[in-house]
Amino acid sequence: MTNTLKNEINELVYQSGRLNVADFISLITQKFPGKVTFSTSFSFEDQVITHEILNQKLPVSIFTLDTGRLFAETYSVWNSTNEKYKAKIKAYYPQAEALQAFIEHNGPNAFYESVENRKSCCHIRKVEPLQRALAGNAIWITGLRAEHSANRHNLPMIEWDETNQIIKYHPILHWTTEAVRAYINDNQIPYNPLHDKGFVSIGCAPCTRAIKPGEDFRAGRWWWEDASKKECGLHVHETTTEQA
Ligand code: ADX
Ligand code: SF4
Repeated sequence: MTNTLKNEINELVYQSGRLNVADFISLITQKFPGKVTFSTSFSFEDQVITHEILNQKLPVSIFTLDTGRLFAETYSVWNSTNEKYKAKIKAYYPQAEALQAFIEHNGPNAFYESVENRKSCCHIRKVEPLQRALAGNAIWITGLRAEHSANRHNLPMIEWDETNQIIKYHPILHWTTEAVRAYINDNQIPYNPLHDKGFVSIGCAPCTRAIKPGEDFRAGRWWWEDASKKECGLHVHETTTEQA
């Protein structure tokens, strides 16, 4: 990382401490016009940020990675969100040829057979489309939250993503689950009904299950795999020690 970039990030960290989420997002859109983007999986967390952006009409592009294997409930909340805010959230899709070749060779549910297959599926359906979605942007806003896993506790709210060569900003990193739920209720924001059925971290349908009380928040993701292998490649700073 160059010194200029370091200084720029330090300045953003300082400003983020002084401003609320919407004001800080507004500031970064002035600093990086047309180059601030937000990725949503329509989770509780992402819906809070979507509300901040769309309610105040902040000039941030919003995209989702439609893997083709999302829950029906996720598509419904996507639709309700478009309707509520009169928005058109953009979707990025896997490249058809890569997906077709993978499925022809390995079958539609190959992710259960090996970690290698699972990572290939995540790469084709999420990581490669993410690279296209981030291209040309300077700041990537996410809904990562510290409570979700041990590794996310130590994450800085603003960080440099070496892999994607972009500044990442996690505005609600330190919000509690209660604060997120209260914000959703108070603002009547559409949310994924699976959150009321024990689903905490929600990804693709075949790879996500509800968790039991007391279980780690990410226990329902890729639950059949060894905890150390559980990452999909979207947030690479967590790759070595991601917890279930
Ligand atoms: S993951 O690494 O396990 O897949 P997680 O589900 O915790 O990520 O979500 C963390 C953040 O990653 C979300 O708040 C969102 O910004 C981004 N994200 C995850 N899945 C998607 C998706 N399908 N489309 C767009 N963004 C996503
Ligand atoms: Fe494929 Fe499962 Fe990864 Fe979704 S979470 S991209 S279905 S392996």
